[in-house]
Amino acid sequence: MSTETALQTLTITQPDDWHLHLRDGATMAAVLPFSARSFARAIVMPNLRSPVTTVQQALAYRARILEAIPAQMAFEPLMTLYLTSASSPEEIDRARESGLIHGVKLYPARATTHSDAGVQSIADCAAVLDRMQRLDVPLLVHGEVARPDVDVFDRERFFLDEVLIPLRRDFPALRVVLEHVTTSDAVQYVREAPGRIAATITAHHLLYNRNAMFLGTDGSAGMRPHFYCLPVLKRESHRRALLGAATSGSPRFFLGTDSAPHPRGEKESACACAGCFTAPLALPMYAQAFDQAGALDRLEAFASFYGADFYGLPRNAGVVTLVRQAPAPLPKITAQGWEFVPLASGACDWSLAD
Ligand code: DOR
Ligand code: ZN
Repeated sequence: MSTETALQTLTITQPDDWHLHLRDGATMAAVLPFSARSFARAIVMPNLRSPVTTVQQALAYRARILEAIPAQMAFEPLMTLYLTSASSPEEIDRARESGLIHGVKLYPARATTHSDAGVQSIADCAAVLDRMQRLDVPLLVHGEVARPDVDVFDRERFFLDEVLIPLRRDFPALRVVLEHVTTSDAVQYVREAPGRIAATITAHHLLYNRNAMFLGTDGSAGMRPHFYCLPVLKRESHRRALLGAATSGSPRFFLGTDSAPHPRGEKESACACAGCFTAPLALPMYAQAFDQAGALDRLEAFASFYGADFYGLPRNAGVVTLVRQAPAPLPKITAQGWEFVPLASGACDWSLAD
């Protein structure tokens, strides 16, 4: 990392996004350039409307992504499979052989967007998890229990006790990424747990607590669906724990935006979809959070080193430069008549240099 003149600019090794929703078709074509602008690679989530459960589907999806990358931009999609109770150990063999599948995603059934096909009971997946452990294919985890009797703000804590700890006891050599951690409980678990575990942290969970969902634009009351995602934003003490983890220098915590675009009409609705679309300003948002913590010198390792190291991939060779300057207004982002509203546009002191 090199810094100049009282940190007005910050040049770091080009980062990767270790948790991204790119969608498909016209939406993907509209949002992908924003990720490719900041990130060299991304772990691409498999929760398409029809989930990506086989290697064949993942490779076809990968081909569509490569096709959608604008000329003169470079971007490497790192593909994942969606775990279901019908997944087979042989599919894990094929994933390993392909060399292009970097993880298998566990969505507890009904925990979040497009998780209907997710896992009801871990016991149904024992043979697959065993094969993943043997072949060292990482398990990527959406860490929430979705039982109706569990308070939505407690879903992550319950998941640790009821699902993750027993799962890791049964499969102790499995490489696990606990995605988008949101609580001090998850931070403490990941920091202290034995074995090979890491966590991604989003920019929005570093910058905002749950009050952000209930603020009117003039500071009075309101409800802001663009700040609604799952796991939902938590109280301030949890945000501080996340910021502490991200800036701690621990290689177990690294960048994953969880950028999840939904059409404006589906966000601004009586039943808003979960997901924050952060890709256009994600890297500036991370810089903002690290700057507020006085830890800009820790951003590079969090954004550009630890994830690659955990996934066993080389660190990137290129660099990106951030400038302490409000970003230029973003263009309206549309596809097929839908608009995608990015989070934090207009509320950031950092931007990407030209
Ligand atoms: O808020 C979320 N949105 N959380 C997820 O886990 C999925 C994502 C999406 O796909 O929209
Ligand atoms: Zn996600």
